Amino acid sequence: MKTTIDTIIEKLDGLAPRIALVLGSGLGGLVDAIEDPIRFPYEELEGFPVSGVSGHAGELVAGTINGKPVFILSGRAHYYEHGNANAMRPALELLKGLGVEHLILTNSAGSLRDDMPPGSVMMLTDHINFSGTNPLIGEETDDRFTGMTSAYDTQMCGALESAATEKDIALHKGVYMWFSGPSFETPAEIRMARTLGADAVGMSTVPEVILGRFLGLKCAACSVITNYGAGMTGSELSHEETKEMAPIGGKRLQTILVKAIGDIA
Ligand code: HPA
Repeated sequence: MKTTIDTIIEKLDGLAPRIALVLGSGLGGLVDAIEDPIRFPYEELEGFPVSGVSGHAGELVAGTINGKPVFILSGRAHYYEHGNANAMRPALELLKGLGVEHLILTNSAGSLRDDMPPGSVMMLTDHINFSGTNPLIGEETDDRFTGMTSAYDTQMCGALESAATEKDIALHKGVYMWFSGPSFETPAEIRMARTLGADAVGMSTVPEVILGRFLGLKCAACSVITNYGAGMTGSELSHEETKEMAPIGGKRLQTILVKAIGDIA
């Protein structure tokens, strides 16, 4: 028996988060910052992704951070796992149904900028969907023509910037380009991405922002930089390297998020 929205509301016992965070792989530390966590394994939730990059499915956790009720989606499905850009739709629809209005996405990404080394944190100001797909393909309502002019919410971005300033952490701003993965980019693709105006490359987040905007959620997103883009240094990229580096910028991002959450929603 899958847990229904009514059962979740009952278990929340009056807790009514208006903000939700999606944690990228290697950025799970924020779950430990949740006070009085109430956990819902993905296996028990209808339509939630059943496998993840780290090998286990993940969980929806509710609780408070910095005094603010929050949901955290720890673990996400990537397009490259099954070729389904829509994989996170049931999860985001559930959050919407539970009253969420603000969505913060996190990811790890490759830097295209010499002044943004591994360990940096970048707030997305915009994105380029270079995957050739879109999670709204097949959606039949006219809502599929979702406007993306203000995909990243000004107020939420302002709260993240203020939090970073207050905590004295450098928060870069830039454009994230979504490649489908799972192979990393070639040096030529990285040169192209730089020419086209991207500051970072990654394999997630964009479909969720598109779905979030489709559902009427206000969105913000941050990347933890784990490596320079292919060809920018002499060395080959590896998943191990990105996993190793994620917690370093992840700690910085966590500090920013804990502060910002208090000021959003
Ligand atoms: N490319 C794509 N996705 C990534 C990278 C990268 O260099 N680093 C972390 N995620």
